[in-house]
Amino acid sequence: MKILITGGAGFIGSHVVRLFVNKYPDYQIFNLDKLTYAGNLANLADIEEKENYQFLKGDIVDADWLDEIFTTYKFDAVVHLAAESHVDRSITDPLAFVQTNVIGTVNLLNTARKHWKENLQDHLFYHISTDEVYGSLGEDGLFTEETAYDPRSPYSASKASSDHFVRAYYHTYGLHVKVSNCSNNYGPNHFPEKLIPLAIHNIKNEKPVPVYGKGENIRDWLYVLDHARAIDVIFHEGKVGDTYNIGGINEWRNIDLIELLCDVMDEKLGREKGQSRQLITFVKDRAGHDLRYAIDSSKLVNELGWKPSVTFEEGLAKTVDWYLQNSEWLDNVTSGNYQSYYEQQYVNR
Ligand code: NAD
Ligand code: TYD
Repeated sequence: MKILITGGAGFIGSHVVRLFVNKYPDYQIFNLDKLTYAGNLANLADIEEKENYQFLKGDIVDADWLDEIFTTYKFDAVVHLAAESHVDRSITDPLAFVQTNVIGTVNLLNTARKHWKENLQDHLFYHISTDEVYGSLGEDGLFTEETAYDPRSPYSASKASSDHFVRAYYHTYGLHVKVSNCSNNYGPNHFPEKLIPLAIHNIKNEKPVPVYGKGENIRDWLYVLDHARAIDVIFHEGKVGDTYNIGGINEWRNIDLIELLCDVMDEKLGREKGQSRQLITFVKDRAGHDLRYAIDSSKLVNELGWKPSVTFEEGLAKTVDWYLQNSEWLDNVTSGNYQSYYEQQYVNR
């Protein structure tokens, strides 16, 4: 089977690519990525020489190029993760999110449909999305697969739009699709402008840790490898046309999470207990900041037998260890050096 994974140089995509390349040596895995600021091929340095792996640098907004690679490689399936993914960036530049998340996704759908139209039933378009499309919860309740969409940031609006297009291609053209909507991920290789890696970086360097507003917003955190495992299960066993919610049953107020992280870091760095908490700095709130996300993943658990493999405490400890043991990765990302990795690895050799 030839699988095109888009956004494979990013945070979640790199874990999905590694899992598929290592677990399925008979599959040919193609990693399509534009290598925006969020794409980092160093994330995949350990598998880049594998025979069943190939990197394709390009932009999903470029429909002609997509047509070329579908003609050349004749993919059997697409796992679509490429996206602009940071809410704060979407507030500054919404159009970039429309380009990649909406136009890019529709380009991929059109290309898949064109190349697969003779035997749609033999192909699969699996779209990876977020719980943020469901909007913001009050104190109670969970997002289920039936919750009405109510996106409230330019990021979630663009992801909601892409989800609707994917389902429209199933209903209108019979393209075989699956969709999953996941809660907040954390773990190794997370770009340090998102909350957890940013806080780890700043705590390590004794810099202020910015907490938006009063830190009362709640997120449901899932270890990234558990998301990758869920994607594997849904890809192989999920029902065509269906949606699966993926979540950690693991809600944390931002301030409680940051305090826990400070304590874990104090222990790992041999600092006095409570020292890092002094770095916590409350800053201006995000515009339109969603109060609470929480996922009901019982459909995935009951129908496909998936469940998270690590507790939050275990996952957070593993994550902190990874960042402390991979300070070169973190330094390269924060300095911007990682952006020359592609030239070093692929162009100049
Ligand atoms: P990321 O920002 O770390 O990675 C995105 C990748 O897509 C990068 O490698 C980037 O170079 C690539 N990309 C961006 N624009 C592109 C384009 N036009 N053409 C080709 N490649 C392009 O994101 P992530 O956190 O790994 O998220 C991956 C997917 O999972 C996204 O679709 C996101 O919406 C979804 N998701 C993320 C989370 C989370 O907590 N991070 C949770 C649920 C769902
Ligand atoms: P983030 O990692 O950006 O994910 P998302 O907005 O997609 O949930 O942010 C997680 C939560 O942390 C969110 O409520 C915003 C908050 N936050 C901070 O308090 N400080 C920060 O510096 C960042 C980046 C986020």
